[in-house]
Amino acid sequence: MCGIVGYIGEKKAKPILINGLLRLEYRGYDSAGIATIEGKEIKVIKNKGRVSELNNINDINNLNGTIGIGHTRWATHGKPSSINSHPHMDNSNNFSVVHNGIIENYADLKEFLKSHKYTFLSETDTEVIPNLIHFYYSTSTESGQTKFLKAVIDACKMLKGSYAIEVLSTYYPDNMIVVRKDSPLVIGKGKSENYISSDIPAILSFTKDFYLLNDLEFAFISRENISFYDENLNKITKEIKNITWNAGDVEKNGYPDFMLKEINEQPKSIRETIGSRLTLNSKVTITDLNLSKKYLESINRIFIVGCGTAMHTGITAKAIFENLCEIPVEVEVASEFRYKNPIINKSTLCLFVTQSGETADTIAALKLAKSKGAKTIAISNVIGSSITREADHTIYTHAGPEIAVASTKAYTSQITLLAILAIYFAEILEKNSNKINELKKDILLLPINVEKILKNTDKIKEFAKKIYKEKDVFFIGRGVDYSVSMEGSLKLKEISYIHSEAYPSGELKHGPIALIENGVTVISVLTNKLLLEKSISNLQEVITRGAKTFIVTNQKLTNDFDEVIQIPETNTLISPILSVVPLQLLAYYISKEKGLDVDKPRNLAKSVTVE
Ligand code: M6R
Repeated sequence: MCGIVGYIGEKKAKPILINGLLRLEYRGYDSAGIATIEGKEIKVIKNKGRVSELNNINDINNLNGTIGIGHTRWATHGKPSSINSHPHMDNSNNFSVVHNGIIENYADLKEFLKSHKYTFLSETDTEVIPNLIHFYYSTSTESGQTKFLKAVIDACKMLKGSYAIEVLSTYYPDNMIVVRKDSPLVIGKGKSENYISSDIPAILSFTKDFYLLNDLEFAFISRENISFYDENLNKITKEIKNITWNAGDVEKNGYPDFMLKEINEQPKSIRETIGSRLTLNSKVTITDLNLSKKYLESINRIFIVGCGTAMHTGITAKAIFENLCEIPVEVEVASEFRYKNPIINKSTLCLFVTQSGETADTIAALKLAKSKGAKTIAISNVIGSSITREADHTIYTHAGPEIAVASTKAYTSQITLLAILAIYFAEILEKNSNKINELKKDILLLPINVEKILKNTDKIKEFAKKIYKEKDVFFIGRGVDYSVSMEGSLKLKEISYIHSEAYPSGELKHGPIALIENGVTVISVLTNKLLLEKSISNLQEVITRGAKTFIVTNQKLTNDFDEVIQIPETNTLISPILSVVPLQLLAYYISKEKGLDVDKPRNLAKSVTVE
């Protein structure tokens, strides 16, 4: 959580930092701040609240420096307040730091520093960092740039936890040092200028050439040069990666919000995720994945692990893998998986699904699976993200940057890719070729079918107007329809703050039906032909108890429901890719009716980089 940005070049740093922070705000928006070097001083402007509010502080207009750092905060240690905002200074006012992550041993470090007469202004864990740097700097026997670099390295050696940090010093007004450990950080290379950011989209309008830092790689940055060092002060070489995303991908392009833009981008993101991997008359090919029949035959279990929406894709994909590959699949929430000592060995294949590739629990779960001998495959949307550097193999969704906190196009791209992966396995294993051809046809039709759904949104908008004041909403479904209900329910609570639960329809009578009373809204997805009659009976039971019903279906229904959204028919295994779209839109329109900030829901951040 938290976003950090930095600039060093010939232009004024302030507008570049503010622009970057506005793009990083989805990572946290409790407070914001920037620091620039102004002559011999570091000037800090920071405040509780949104990035845009920084512009209301008069002094901000006096910042002319061409080197600076910035931060947008998702509070962990210390409530959102001006004093707890970043950047933080050391006691001598010569070092300034912004930090994304958590310093787990900050209390011990504070005691250590207090014993050396350091004092603290904030309640944050971060404030120990500039003071530690000062401590090592003032006791150093080094000279020149090495003195600065060594002080930062020594300070980092004391830190336990996760961090991406940027350091400014009045002693080195033309340099900046950055480092990361278990928190994201990228460096964008320009001409006589360099940019630093927690993620690529925030600085994509300035450069497409990036250095991706690994853990404990230190970058010593000037306008012209970037030198990289390991923690033993050895120089290392790093390659530049050219990123193919367009700057326009990170703009709203006429949409009122990123979420609506991203919902509407799904035909494109699904099409690009399919790419040339899947065609009708040849076998699936997945670049960089070369698994043998012998290996696939040796697998006796697949785990699919992720958090939130990414985990929901696993629930849908479980049925696809089990159906086509006949290998048992378990789906786990990453934060549970990592602490439950899962039974894993070299016959287990573990898939880790994460849009950002930075989710702390998912990365930790992958490291655990690897340490137990499993082969690991990451499914990610962000090139070079942290998880891709840990996994044995990475397969990318090509959804383009997803900016809204609520995940939409990532979900549909992830299921598409997992379905393609299941077909890839089944073809190698020579299983279920009869089912595969039909499924391939339907996968290729997905973009057109999503387009059809997106053309008919009026009824969804109308229904949102009817129910936006509700306190509780229930989602019910069977099989794949239950799996997509979980995602619909998450979207609704996330951006509209309406409490909602998803239940398997057949579970209603085992408890939840006690909550159904006159006027309660029940949303149901009905795409599973084989279970249609049973699902309709369950709906009848809630209607009898006074429920309002919103149905998403690809079947011809004759029953009397309050609203029915018709979607195209497709293979049941992948139907959530279509049925989720009306649920995403319903959550979106309800949030709009309530006048909420759709893209930045309260308390949430896009990438959860701490536990
Ligand atoms: O970046 P990831 O896919 O690892 O993120 C996982 C979850 O934090 C994410 O899907 C979250 O649940 C979304 N905000 C849901 O819309």
